[in-house]
Amino acid sequence: MLLVNASGCLDALTAPEVATQFDAFVTKTVTPEPRAGNPPVRIAETDFGMLNAIGLANPGRDAFLSETLPKLRTLGLPLWVSVGGFAAHEYAETCARLEDVTIELNLSCPNVDEAPESAAEIVRACREVTDNPLYAKVSPHTWDMGETVRAVEEAGADGVSMVNTLRGVALDARLRTTLARGVGGYSGPALKPVALASVLAARRVTALPIVAMGGVQSGRDALELIACGATHVALGTVLFADVDAPSRVRDELVEEAHRAGFERPEDAFAVAVDSVAKSAN
Ligand SMILES: Cc1cc2nc3c(=O)[nH]c(=O)nc-3n(C[C@H](O)[C@H](O)[C@H](O)COP(=O)(O)O)c2cc1C
Repeated sequence: MLLVNASGCLDALTAPEVATQFDAFVTKTVTPEPRAGNPPVRIAETDFGMLNAIGLANPGRDAFLSETLPKLRTLGLPLWVSVGGFAAHEYAETCARLEDVTIELNLSCPNVDEAPESAAEIVRACREVTDNPLYAKVSPHTWDMGETVRAVEEAGADGVSMVNTLRGVALDARLRTTLARGVGGYSGPALKPVALASVLAARRVTALPIVAMGGVQSGRDALELIACGATHVALGTVLFADVDAPSRVRDELVEEAHRAGFERPEDAFAVAVDSVAKSAN
């Protein structure tokens, strides 16, 4: 099992001491052109999670490849590059230029249709141009996660990452939207049941590796995702509050596995999937 950061939730170059607690570093999503992102306010706290409307701010793929990526390589960690775009060919053009990294396709980019066919089209275009490990990061905005996962697997994905944020809105005291853009991505503790359901649904239809994320704050949360069928676990919003979260979650995971009656966390893999199958029969 790998413990990694969730894309966009950690800058490894400003916080290498946090990044090196992970087994691999996942970059913020890289788009073809540089993006300044949305105007402020871009972050809002809510009772049970956080809203962000960063708008995929990033230096664009040319600067990423020539400046950011060489610096990231000096960390000595396996790298996962999150790739974004507005059309399948844009994703593929970036993938074609990446070597010696795992690629995570962010399929929840603005203006990208989140339907299974669109996700599959992007994965297929990227599969044609790269032999690198290719993960499809899917949105929780689907009424049938199994269909999406089957579609990206058929299109050639080597694994799936889930979940990205849910759309949310927060209002200020004067009942105006807190975020300048209005709608943002909702992350943090409230997302955990959504992530558990997504992983469970995915694991029922695929044997591919699954990187699971959504509201993980503790070792118990990580163990629950593994029990639903996660192969790897990612930490996102928790990193804004606790820079020691990777080491803490890793320690707690072992303790929590013992408490639940398993020798190692991996031994709890997909046990919840079996429990659903049994009670459904
Ligand atoms: C501030 C912020 C920026 C994010 N940026 C990205 C991004 O660039 N690409 C991406 O795929 N996901 C991005 N995400 C989503 C996270 O990777 C993750 O899927 C989501 O936050 C759920 O996990 P969490 O509840 O542990 O934060 C971002 C999330 C936050 C909070």
